[in-house]
Amino acid sequence: MSEGAESAALAELAKRRGFFFGSSEAYGGVGGFYTYGPQGAALKSNVEEAWRERFAVQEGNLEIEAPTIMPEPVFEASGHLDGFDDMLVECAECGESHRADHLIEDNSELEDAETLSPEEAAEKISDLGLVCPNCGAELAGQSVEEFNLMFATNIGPGSKTPGYLRPETAQGIFVEFPRIKEYARNSLPFGVTQIGRAYRNEISPRKNIVRTREFTQAELEHFVDPERDEPDLSSVEDVEVCLYPATEQERDDGEYVETTIGAAVDEGIVANGWIGYFLGIAQEWYEDIGVDMDRFRFRQHLAGERAHYAADCWDAESEVDGDWIEIAGFAYRGDYDLSKHGEHADDDFTVFQQYDEPKTVERAVVDPDMATLGPEFGAQAADVSDALETLAQRDPDAFDADEVTLDVDGEEVTVDTDVANFSVETQTEAGEHITPHVVEPSFGVDRTVYTLLAHAHEKDEVDGEERTFLSLSPTVAPTNVGVFPLVSNVEELVELADDVADELRAAGFAVAHDDSGSIGRRYRRQDEVGTPFCITIDRDGIEGEGPTTVTIRERDSGRQVRLSVSDLVETFVGLRAGTTSFDDVLDANEVVEA
Ligand code: GLY
Repeated sequence: MSEGAESAALAELAKRRGFFFGSSEAYGGVGGFYTYGPQGAALKSNVEEAWRERFAVQEGNLEIEAPTIMPEPVFEASGHLDGFDDMLVECAECGESHRADHLIEDNSELEDAETLSPEEAAEKISDLGLVCPNCGAELAGQSVEEFNLMFATNIGPGSKTPGYLRPETAQGIFVEFPRIKEYARNSLPFGVTQIGRAYRNEISPRKNIVRTREFTQAELEHFVDPERDEPDLSSVEDVEVCLYPATEQERDDGEYVETTIGAAVDEGIVANGWIGYFLGIAQEWYEDIGVDMDRFRFRQHLAGERAHYAADCWDAESEVDGDWIEIAGFAYRGDYDLSKHGEHADDDFTVFQQYDEPKTVERAVVDPDMATLGPEFGAQAADVSDALETLAQRDPDAFDADEVTLDVDGEEVTVDTDVANFSVETQTEAGEHITPHVVEPSFGVDRTVYTLLAHAHEKDEVDGEERTFLSLSPTVAPTNVGVFPLVSNVEELVELADDVADELRAAGFAVAHDDSGSIGRRYRRQDEVGTPFCITIDRDGIEGEGPTTVTIRERDSGRQVRLSVSDLVETFVGLRAGTTSFDDVLDANEVVEA
């Protein structure tokens, strides 16, 4: 991922106008940590709110907020301690660490170097004659190591309770599953969402807020019974998507598949209906918040690229500077997570699923004679009894013989069959315990913010001068409206501007009140931070018989309309929500020639 012209221009604007900048710069800064300034924090918060509205509220899901530090056993169970690694190569000359797969991808045609083993990566580095990007020394012959990405810490004084900063918010949902399933009344399917910080000790953070060491995720863990639950695809079947399946990526002349969600699932391009469902919702959501759909695709992971828990995975990717950035992942995690926590933790990660009709089943049972087992096996007697029960379930025919052989704590033990009191009973069962499967749409909030800024960053010419503006959607724009008294030395205009700003703020709008400089300069300032509308208070609006009026100017087109002050709040509510377009406002009111 190169630092291209588009990214460089965006980074400059982001710093100058308060979207984001490297943090702790007063102390020299440290790679991979960013601070959002006033514009960026508001934009990010609006993206989170739009996500919450669509993926939690509209879907009827449950939102939680779990801690960001979790104890070590969580990550032993989840597999992150063993399997959450990136490939690291260190320069023998200057000691700088680099991510081996990125170095290879940046210097060859290979797009999936992540799928190489460390040995293969080391060989590739030698074959390509790669050098250290920091000092230029040869990297050939250097070993490539697996580097665990989790930040370790100790909980409390001393080192007795190791913990980690969570590398994904998902684990906070999985470990609380035994309690959350009660809130969901043990009724599958249900979804749990979380928006929060996650941490990865990236070997080489880059492209500003795209790959950082602390970042925000918006994740949905959707728990389903794979045998019974089907998504309702009718709401998304006609949604058009651009897909890049693994089979196409593997072909030399591989192509995108432009299709609908309904057809993609029917034809098995997207094998899992739930994944198809969430791709459809995501496509619409990204479009609503302003991602350029000509620079957006869903790409399926290649087999070697998938995380340790994923059976299938599609990424939402956006294009910036010619590079494709992963901005969300849609993984079918199966029962991996809940099974692992069920094995490691002392709680129940299953859900009882009632059968439609009770079932009559034959069960092999034993009723061991403890008066015999006790004297014969002493302290081991209870374990022998358990082993008899296990054997009865696994191999009931074994009890046809006079004696059975058991494995008790690694020791071979023989027991007379009579002592087991074996029988086959007919039982009625109302249901069974199942481990739900998980479908996970996981969104990178910072990368979404970056994409919105990059796709909105535009230039045009106004009055013979170049103008830079951000064509952000009114739904996410950090400032909803600029309010300007035309001149700052006429008391009535200043007072009315204050009143209009106060009324809009009271209605929940972010307002920039600006009375300095020419109107043109004030427009430019708001254009550059993506404020979609500006209100100008002029004499015409307060003179004459009719109601008090103001002009509203739309950022992208510069078109203007005169509107009664009493209609402002309702109009902006519709414009922000996207239920009213500026064309609607122009049609219903007096158009002003700019
Ligand atoms: N939970 C998926 C991820 O963090 O990548």
